[in-house]
Amino acid sequence: MDVIRPALLDDAPAIARVHIESWRSTYRRLLAADFLDSLALSEYTNRWTRFIGDGTSRVYVAEDGGAVVGFASGGHERAGEVAYSGELYAIYVLDAFQRRGHGLELVRAVVGGLQEMGLDDMIIWVLKDNRPARLFYERLGGIYVRTQPITVGSASLEEVSYGWPRLDLVRY
Ligand SMILES: CC(C)(COP(=O)(O)OP(=O)(O)OC[C@H]1O[C@@H](n2cnc3c(N)ncnc32)[C@H](O)[C@@H]1OP(=O)(O)O)[C@@H](O)C(=O)NCCC(=O)NCCS
Repeated sequence: MDVIRPALLDDAPAIARVHIESWRSTYRRLLAADFLDSLALSEYTNRWTRFIGDGTSRVYVAEDGGAVVGFASGGHERAGEVAYSGELYAIYVLDAFQRRGHGLELVRAVVGGLQEMGLDDMIIWVLKDNRPARLFYERLGGIYVRTQPITVGSASLEEVSYGWPRLDLVRY
């Protein structure tokens, strides 16, 4: 059965695995292989343990057949974007489990979390060349905000933002 639920501390290793696997499959064409190879499960597990434990953000997992196949997180906007107070920080679904609606349901969960935090809008940053993810955000009704440079590993890339000025504008 498919389930979306808040992440527990014990989910940190599974989230870290999905995070690294998704980075490797999604960014293979955009980022250097040695950088992607260097992503370490123990480091990401520690990072997600801290992130889930400190309670400053909301983290949700998608389970399919009892295993974590995706996750998403969100909270207060981080970069000082004046028009936005909420942010979808990250959303990743394993390659083999994409296009089954997990992404939409994870966004729905994060939006609910932002509303619980008293936030009423949302911004998301995505690599400009990550076309499938951009189509996903456009499908959700996100409006283009702006483009800025970003360094990931040793790569100089561009990222674009999409925004929802009100959370009831998210189109599921
Ligand atoms: C982007 C992502 C989170 C979407 O999750 P998902 O579970 O695959 O998406 P859903 O099944 O909920 O898709 C909902 C709708 O979004 C659109 N969509 C999703 N993926 C798409 C794609 N690759 N190309 C075009 N449209 C897409 C479609 O309209 C889709 O509906 P449909 O399948 O009925 O046509 C997922 O594909 C993913 O993890 N990608 C790799 C990691 C990534 O890029 N994360 C975002 C980083 S900012």
